[in-house]
Amino acid sequence: MADDPFALFDAWLAEAGASEPNDPNAMALATADLSGRPSVRMVLLKGHDRDGFVFYTNGESRKADDLAQNAQAALLFHWKSLRRQVRIEGGVTRVSDAESDAYFASRGRDSQLGAWASDQSRPLDVRETFEARFAEVSQRFGSGDVPRPPHWGGYRVTPDRIEFWQDRAHRLHERRLFTRVDGGWNEGLLFP
Ligand SMILES: Cc1cc2nc3c(=O)[nH]c(=O)nc-3n(C[C@H](O)[C@H](O)[C@H](O)COP(=O)(O)O)c2cc1C
Repeated sequence: MADDPFALFDAWLAEAGASEPNDPNAMALATADLSGRPSVRMVLLKGHDRDGFVFYTNGESRKADDLAQNAQAALLFHWKSLRRQVRIEGGVTRVSDAESDAYFASRGRDSQLGAWASDQSRPLDVRETFEARFAEVSQRFGSGDVPRPPHWGGYRVTPDRIEFWQDRAHRLHERRLFTRVDGGWNEGLLFP
């Protein structure tokens, strides 16, 4: 049985936290609709453990539409200053309402209000429309707590494949591929 890919991921993320100028937890999220058309965008990793990698978004966005049709995703971290990438693939599930509530409550107030004001991925005529909606929801909630919008929440990518790529001298890069097997992980190398 191989080394633990989660421990390796933790170590690399911690190093990225020390080396990257901002957002070491930024990752590309690739999804595809039922026709197979792919789309990719950046999101922030907001939690991870052995159950998977969690991000939060608007449940009416394009990525949410894709995931409703095809509950699989790929994630990609690229830490430029470390010359490393991590690729993660797996099935996707919604996180529980309680988990989404807890994360939403931890966000800054402007982010909370923005989640109410944005029809993410829908056409917007002019930016002022979004600003007016933001002002309207700010007024609506006054100084009280901002509840989580029902359409906003988390998704968990449960990995069955994790690949670590590391730059090495003379282009002899290293690729370590972990694939999930019953009760653990297999590890192998790939030609770079
Ligand atoms: C560094 C970075 C981090 C981002 N993090 C998030 C995020 O955590 N959640 C989110 O919904 N959008 C995030 N976005 C915006 C998305 O990239 C994207 O524009 C938005 O979610 C709409 O994507 P969609 O139309 O494919 O659903 C981030 C963008 C950048 C550049």
